[in-house]
Amino acid sequence: MTERKYGDVWKNTDKKLWDDMWAAHAGSPMTEAVLAEALKVDRLIEVGCGAGHMLAELIKRGWSKGATRAYQGFEIGRKPAEAARKVLGADYDVVGRIEAGDFMDTASAGMVDEATLLIARGVVQHHAHWSLLPLAALRFVPRVVLGIGYTNTRSDRHTGGWQPKGCYDVHVSIPLLKIEAAAMGMKLVRCEPMMRGNRRELFVVLERGQ
Ligand SMILES: C[S@@+](CC[C@H](N)C(=O)[O-])C[C@H]1O[C@@H](n2cnc3c(N)ncnc32)[C@H](O)[C@@H]1O
Repeated sequence: MTERKYGDVWKNTDKKLWDDMWAAHAGSPMTEAVLAEALKVDRLIEVGCGAGHMLAELIKRGWSKGATRAYQGFEIGRKPAEAARKVLGADYDVVGRIEAGDFMDTASAGMVDEATLLIARGVVQHHAHWSLLPLAALRFVPRVVLGIGYTNTRSDRHTGGWQPKGCYDVHVSIPLLKIEAAAMGMKLVRCEPMMRGNRRELFVVLERGQ
């Protein structure tokens, strides 16, 4: 059996997939909540930046106007990372870079930039253990904002598995999320279910300490 790695499904996808994915989530309460947090800070890290749609939206909303902002994006997929670099390159008031690679590897190597906030929208529900990304991130930033898709708030178990489209999806339960955040020494500042159509999503803010 060929070993499947999470990032494989995203690596060589064309920009259209990212445009469609962004369009499906644009304006949802969770997306708006993540954008609102990002708009408040000067130095931002985004994990799973895809083709740079979140960054483009921030710029469109005036994030970089009149001030120099710092942005570091991480994206496993090479092709989307290249597209995100074009977004970054188009705004001279944003200094930064897009890393084509796994954030967890860069965090292990201690190579993450200094920033005020790290955001990851639509990312951790594809990881078998949602809490490892914010735990690693909080070594570098004081605050982490997660937008988690497809959350099963009724069950007290995380459930999930490999999906036909080729990525791993976990349904993150709120009771377990609370227990795990506390056990790992992360302060759960906000944990709010939000609807996107008939799908339940979760908006989560974590900080260091209990
Ligand atoms: C469902 S897409 C969401 C893209 C984008 N955040 C958005 O909101 O449209 C998840 C993305 O996260 C990326 N990703 C997941 N885990 C990652 C990690 N540890 N480091 C870097 N990128 C990651 C994937 O490659 C994929 O592009």
